[in-house]
Amino acid sequence: MKTAVFSTRRYDKTMLVRANASAGHELRFLEDRLSVASAPLAAGCEAVCVFVNDTVDAEVLAILAQQGTRLVATRSTGYNQIDAAAAERHGIAVVRVTDYSPYSVAEFAVGLLLAVNRKIARASVRTREGNFDLDGLMGFDLHGKTVGVIGTGKIGSIFARIMIGFGCTVVGHDRYPSAAFEALGGRYVSVQELLACSDVVSLHCPLTDETRHIVNAASLARAKRGSILVNTSRGGLVDTEAATEALKTGQLGGLAIDVYEQEANLFFQDLSSTIICDDVIQRLVSFPNVIVTGHQAFFTEEAIGQIMQTTIDSISAFERGEALLNRIPKS
Ligand code: NAI
Repeated sequence: MKTAVFSTRRYDKTMLVRANASAGHELRFLEDRLSVASAPLAAGCEAVCVFVNDTVDAEVLAILAQQGTRLVATRSTGYNQIDAAAAERHGIAVVRVTDYSPYSVAEFAVGLLLAVNRKIARASVRTREGNFDLDGLMGFDLHGKTVGVIGTGKIGSIFARIMIGFGCTVVGHDRYPSAAFEALGGRYVSVQELLACSDVVSLHCPLTDETRHIVNAASLARAKRGSILVNTSRGGLVDTEAATEALKTGQLGGLAIDVYEQEANLFFQDLSSTIICDDVIQRLVSFPNVIVTGHQAFFTEEAIGQIMQTTIDSISAFERGEALLNRIPKS
């Protein structure tokens, strides 16, 4: 099936070509992000493959539908970038990748937590310059601390299990509490209680109307003073300016983010030779107790292999008229 692959990076191409070896779909690789301007590049493609920062709103979907697209496949779990109701109106099926190594993201969240708490990135920069001083590098033991997990699904529950292994007390909040999380030793509490009692809060819920800015000025004011916030889920969960203010007053003791609300214009590209005009992110990266990575939590060999294989399998199933296992409901 003719498929336009937007936001293609070298690794996408390598891994998709490998996954497509026996399926034989005709893949049109495009470096552009999908938008109203770039949508015509998918003319004649029945399937369009997108990633997290592509724009797949009603306007773009109308153009795609008019050009003959009948399937949108996102190479991600989250699908908040897609107007699923508009897709349905245009008769376009939408699939995502529901299952790929949740360990990739959970392990990365733990890595970010350790890096920000124990100042590992700062220490590495120092030693490269021959500075072996420890001043300013003190962290705290995770053992015995309370870790709050918002969203106790696949990734959140693995993160919780790792934290329990560290000797932490784990509390969770989820719209749909699960017995599996409690069986691990986690205890469900309200968001308010979670923020008030946690030394570390890690976000693992999807971005929805309900969860947008779940961390905002009011919730940060209720958080335990000096706590660390980790966000590997979606940037829109956190009001970044409120988090910046909380860092300035010490209410927030550290921030580790792999996702950022305005990441669409920044992430997945090398901007090191340009002037970055986003003052919010520039201010944040200047803080010693902040770590920002560019949406790489999923980026392991295992996860990418599974993402590409599932995407190709979905396109094949659609072509054969079979039921789509990873179809998303309308929002
Ligand atoms: P999942 O669907 O297994 O778990 C999400 C959990 O959030 C579910 O238990 C759900 O009930 C809960 N939830 C839904 N609405 C909620 C609300 N209003 N309040 C509290 N909890 C709520 O999803 P999974 O695989 O664990 O992924 C979680 C998120 O991680 C994804 O939505 C995605 O945004 C993000 N992600 C980030 C990646 C990265 O590279 N940084 C890669 C993959 C996923």
